Amino acid sequence: LPYLVAALLFGYLLGSIPFGLIVTRLAGLGDVRKIGSGNIGATNVLRTGNKKLAALTLLGDALKGTVAVLLAGLYGPDQAVAAGLGAFLGHLFPVWLGFRGGKGVATYLGVLIAIAWPGALIFAGIWLAVAFITRYSSLSALVAAIAVPVGLYLLDYVQAAELFILMSVIVFIKHRTNISRLMAGTETRIGGKG
Ligand code: G3P
Repeated sequence: LPYLVAALLFGYLLGSIPFGLIVTRLAGLGDVRKIGSGNIGATNVLRTGNKKLAALTLLGDALKGTVAVLLAGLYGPDQAVAAGLGAFLGHLFPVWLGFRGGKGVATYLGVLIAIAWPGALIFAGIWLAVAFITRYSSLSALVAAIAVPVGLYLLDYVQAAELFILMSVIVFIKHRTNISRLMAGTETRIGGKG
């Protein structure tokens, strides 16, 4: 048990690094929380107009999840899961930002890559398809978050499916303002004005 708690904490600390906030500050763009949706994720960094920084944010926020799982996984599969969940929660509730973090989509994907990579292919395929059709980042993430646990079950990754049901529910809760905007028809499209 102490190892599980250590893995959770280790994941949390890695996950709580807010790459979107860091890269936009370093680039002299100010506080990304003051523009667009106010979120610290890649979608909102893209609203600064800087595609490279958005890509860096996506990469950093995803890789911190992947790295947490792979390193903790050296101690066993349960540690890997604990660190993955920790990284996801760290991104959502970073102690450095008064526990007001991001929405978890990139980190969800990063953890998924390391825990059950076929699930990450499902995520990427669905996300890209919905984004191509609708240009809504949030809707793409929400549809992918439904497809992933279902796909994992069908592919017999039963334990991973359980973990990702939990993470998908949290992703939905974090997107409640996006869901309201989608229903009101006021959500910003990718490439649209923030
Ligand atoms: O990954 C977050 C995305 O789904 C929504 O971001 O900035 O449009 O709220 P945002």
